[in-house]
Amino acid sequence: MVFPCVIPKPNRCRLTGEYYAGSAAEIRKTIDTELPDNGAYRLVISKDGIEVSAADDKGFFYAQQTLKQLAFVYGNPLPTMEIDDAPVFMHRGFMVDSVRHMQTVDELKKLIDTASMFKFNVFHWHLSDDQGFRFESETYPELTQIACVRPSSDFGKVHDNTPYGGYYTKQQMREIIDFCHARFITVIPEIDMPGHTCAILHAKPELSCKGEEVSIKTTAGIFEEILCCGKEETFDFIFGLLDELCEVFPDPFIHIGGDEAPKNNWKICPACQGRMLQEGLANEEQLQGYMTTRISEHLAKKGRQCICWNETLASDILPEGLIIQNWMDKKKQVPAFAAAGGRVIYSDYYHYYTDYPYAMTPVKKTYTADPVPKNLPAEMLQNCIGVETPIWTEHVRDFSRLCYMTWPRFAAVSETGWTKKERKKYDDFKERMVTLLPLLEENGIYAADPKEWDPISVSRLPRTLGHFADTVSAEMVTNFFKDTFKKD
Ligand code: ACM
Ligand code: ZN
Repeated sequence: MVFPCVIPKPNRCRLTGEYYAGSAAEIRKTIDTELPDNGAYRLVISKDGIEVSAADDKGFFYAQQTLKQLAFVYGNPLPTMEIDDAPVFMHRGFMVDSVRHMQTVDELKKLIDTASMFKFNVFHWHLSDDQGFRFESETYPELTQIACVRPSSDFGKVHDNTPYGGYYTKQQMREIIDFCHARFITVIPEIDMPGHTCAILHAKPELSCKGEEVSIKTTAGIFEEILCCGKEETFDFIFGLLDELCEVFPDPFIHIGGDEAPKNNWKICPACQGRMLQEGLANEEQLQGYMTTRISEHLAKKGRQCICWNETLASDILPEGLIIQNWMDKKKQVPAFAAAGGRVIYSDYYHYYTDYPYAMTPVKKTYTADPVPKNLPAEMLQNCIGVETPIWTEHVRDFSRLCYMTWPRFAAVSETGWTKKERKKYDDFKERMVTLLPLLEENGIYAADPKEWDPISVSRLPRTLGHFADTVSAEMVTNFFKDTFKKD
């Protein structure tokens, strides 16, 4: 068996040739302030006992996760060893879309607990989109009442004529946040804007450019109706909502989306055009930059930092300190942003989106993706703050499907987030992962069968096309391929 059978693989580990026959729960802890406070720990298993040193509880927690896996795999007695470990990246995240389909609080807890065993430290919670709004708002009760239910669901070929909806109460969200914090996981809520706001606009049509009724969406896609950036009421609403969001979510980062916002309505909206004139903005992308800047400045007053998807870089007007999450950087703007000092998170859709089938994104492809742009000057490498793997749930209707899609790809990302590149090897990871699958199952997480992780090459294209045929219309398949392989 490959050693040590732990994911993510510890950065330094040495067997010392003996066995410890005592309980793995009996640990002697020593605070060592010489160690960094980034989760680093030293774990020494000798024949006499287990000793852990760390600068703080976070380091002890990660040592415990390592020990949990070791005890599971090797049982009693444990081989003696010395581990010195610390993460490569500070941001090791997973994202869950709770809009297209929701998860129960218990299901989220299972996922979060399992992610914490793999040393993830960020849970990005996607709470608002065109098909629903999931944050209980008392400031705007119409969001909770009207924006949270869609009349039917038409994702791909599945047509479900029953209303679908719900929201997380503040108490439930606080329960999730506490659960995460107990596992050293930061929670980043996302309210997407100005695009992907049809659910909000369904409840508040006055905030659209045309001021007309907007339907809550029942299909996947990119929609023309977005928040009007000319009307001052839009900003009043956004600030009111974000203030309420910040009351519930106490961590330093708030995600405001910024992706896939078509500007056609802004181009013909007198209020938006008036705003551009008044602010001296050259185009509608700069108008989005203006919006991002105002929101970011508002959040900064509350001690919060803003994260946006990479489309936000289409504007050359951007707030200080913005963090960019890169999912599809067709224009190659992210490396330049990082080279100029901007912080970036790697979430490339082609490698890290776990809603795509294994035929399109085998585990090896996820595992071997390099989150650092090539040619980034060495002194700028620290701007690549980490990795994050999303699960979008248009076609993920229940938790067993969610687990099948995300594991083991989540584990593959966890190893990239924690382990030095030179220590990573796919075959070695695969063997460890297979051994650890029953540990996931103890947590109620049933991963994809190892036979499905890396389909043979000839089967990949037909199976990928089969997936798209089952999930999206012919027009969307055509657009997807056109878009993906388009030359810039
Ligand atoms: C995204 O997938 N639209 C961020
Ligand atoms: Zn407008």
